[in-house]
Amino acid sequence: MEFSIKSGSPEKQRSGCVVVGVFEGRKLSASCQAIDGAAEGFVSEVLRKGDLEGTLGKTLLLHAVPGVPADRILLVGLGREREFGEGQYRAALSSAAKALRATGASDATVCLTDVPVKKRNTDWKVEHAVLAILDGAYRFDRLKSKAQENKRSLRKVVLHVARRNEIAAGEQAAARGQAIGEGIAFAKDLGNLPGNHCTPTYLAEQAVDMGKRNGVKVEVLEQKEIEKLGMGCFLAVARGSRQPPKLIVMEYHGGKRDAAPVALVGKGITFDTGGISLKPGAEMDEMKFDMCGAASVLGAMKAIALMRLPMNVVAVIPATENMPGGNAIKPGDVVTTMSGQTVEILNTDAEGRLILCDALTYVEKYKPAAVVDVATLTGAMVIALGHVATGLFSNSDPLARELISAGEAAWDRAWHMPLWDDYQDALKSNFADIPNIGSRAGGSITAACFLSRFTKSYPWAHLDIAGTAWKSGAEKGATGRPVALLAHFLAKRAA
Ligand code: BES
Ligand code: MN
Ligand code: ZN
Repeated sequence: MEFSIKSGSPEKQRSGCVVVGVFEGRKLSASCQAIDGAAEGFVSEVLRKGDLEGTLGKTLLLHAVPGVPADRILLVGLGREREFGEGQYRAALSSAAKALRATGASDATVCLTDVPVKKRNTDWKVEHAVLAILDGAYRFDRLKSKAQENKRSLRKVVLHVARRNEIAAGEQAAARGQAIGEGIAFAKDLGNLPGNHCTPTYLAEQAVDMGKRNGVKVEVLEQKEIEKLGMGCFLAVARGSRQPPKLIVMEYHGGKRDAAPVALVGKGITFDTGGISLKPGAEMDEMKFDMCGAASVLGAMKAIALMRLPMNVVAVIPATENMPGGNAIKPGDVVTTMSGQTVEILNTDAEGRLILCDALTYVEKYKPAAVVDVATLTGAMVIALGHVATGLFSNSDPLARELISAGEAAWDRAWHMPLWDDYQDALKSNFADIPNIGSRAGGSITAACFLSRFTKSYPWAHLDIAGTAWKSGAEKGATGRPVALLAHFLAKRAA
């Protein structure tokens, strides 16, 4: 999709569809007033008939509006004017994107970017308009045998800003939105692809391909090399699978040669059956999303490469399936991690932390400025924060604050969870240094405590995205979170 920024008269736009806002109480936004004026009150007349009250997210499509050259006018409810903030803005844009998709318009002029949003400037509005429109236009139909929607799809979008002097900054914001949006789409595609397609080998191929196209160096370590590194925990998980494990290592060099990189680590379980501690059958299909941490790291790498951030970033992704089988690890097995610490595997379904701990030890060699891991780690995280906020754990308060505010700027929010020493008591084993599970109570925290045993040599944060990486039900699918958070975090560091 192509985005451009324009100021000037919305009523004069030759466009497949002009999108304008209406507040509750049928109060027209400035652009809507301009159109209503050119149409000699046609829009207010329609509203008087009661077809749209201005409720947030409701839309009404008008054809052949007199006095304006556009093919269609899409009215979007904005809710109460006094309450119009960032959440309402995102919601209005999402509805607009969905409604646009239902039309045959191949280009549109969106005049929601010119509506004032509390505490947010034009840059923010433009970036988020781009993200919402790309999100609304996203489809995953490559596994359907026939094309689903044969309509023309939206190709060109003009974002309308109130003043001419906002155009240059708007263009930059649109480019940033597009880079992040492409990262998100990449992450969604990988997440949505089922386990029989998206194997560790496929993930590695995708990483190599993305790296080639975007100037990111990619190396894939095979079983033998992973053995040499002594990643006993990662290999323990991979034992039950017929698919060979891969350790994907990516390096983006945008900064000074000797500048310490930020390291991203993503959980890449391409399917999580639970292993011998087998999961129940209901909704087990959703465990194809257990590589969404890896996908978001790949998406973030793509976004920062497209943005050409002046910094160094490395990404490490341990990728494997978690399967039962004659060669699979069993509850009670003790294995040795790359760090030398031994782990008693009390539950083979707590496999994410087993592959991450070795990857977290591996990144030490980069002497990273900070390390952020991303993982669909615990069901307990979903219980704690639902599907709204990502759980954030950290051994560094300044790093935690950076990530929280990046999440707010990106509207991809995270919530700071405790990682106090008191919780470490749950990790006691009679047979090894630590067990791979703690108490059921505070399960997401004890999982983070496990990881913290491997991250003592650098500032580290852990993002548990079990509740935010995908949606269930009718809208089942990957969300691409937290690519936007990561991209904002890195962009702010690079600046
Ligand atoms: N991938 C799951 C976590 C998960 C479960 C994410 C449900 C989203 C929805 C992870 O590997 C897992 O199975 N965790 C266990 C840990 C437990 C055995 C300590 C869990 O959360 O039940
Ligand atoms: Mn599991
Ligand atoms: Zn898992």
